[in-house]
Amino acid sequence: MESIDKVKQDAEKLAAAKEAVKLVKNNDVVGLGTGSTATFAIKELAERMKNGLQITAAASSLKTEEIASSYGIPILKLETLGSIDLSIDGADEFTESLNLIKGGGGALFREKIVASLSKFSVIVADSSKKVDTLGAFTVPVEVVPLALQYVSDQLEKAGGSGILRKREGETFVTDNGNYIIDANFGLIAEPAELAFTLNQIDGVLAHGLFIGLTSKVIMARAEEILVFE
Ligand code: 5RP
Repeated sequence: MESIDKVKQDAEKLAAAKEAVKLVKNNDVVGLGTGSTATFAIKELAERMKNGLQITAAASSLKTEEIASSYGIPILKLETLGSIDLSIDGADEFTESLNLIKGGGGALFREKIVASLSKFSVIVADSSKKVDTLGAFTVPVEVVPLALQYVSDQLEKAGGSGILRKREGETFVTDNGNYIIDANFGLIAEPAELAFTLNQIDGVLAHGLFIGLTSKVIMARAEEILVFE
């Protein structure tokens, strides 16, 4: 993961978001991701709506719903949706094979549902997010609270060392009322295999390995836009 300063990083996030929002068409149902890069895309969508674009949207978190609603973007209930035309979300890490780690913002479960419902799923990223091998960023694992100890033990058996996520000294609680264990597996040579293993653990609602869910990554690097698909 490259290190870049925040101003440059935000400029790249904005550039990638603008490029992705160009893909949105009139009357699309748009999946809205969570996090700072996705928020740039939401603002950009709101700008296009001022110029006549008509869309409805599905939000991948309560925070995103709040932001999108504040810009007047009509939000549909995720539970009523059979499909989403196009989703735009960020990532914590991605590889050229379009595998991701997500969930730095804690919205991994809804983000995965949005990505799974999407006919076309676009990830927007600054250049720090591209890696050769996933795993420098820990894998967020959303855990039903009563299974915390059990899941921690299972993660350890799977080769991961986990830390319960905290915010300002308090246990972080997701939009779904669950906890997050940030699990370090080192560099992940076989992400699909690890995803399969994590899927088998009772008490895991979702994990941050997004395998085969992404149609395209749009990454900005300085003035350049790079597309991986
Ligand atoms: C939230 C996510 C975000 O997409 C990810 O953390 C990237 O965030 P940002 O765009 O702020 O760097 O997965 O759960």
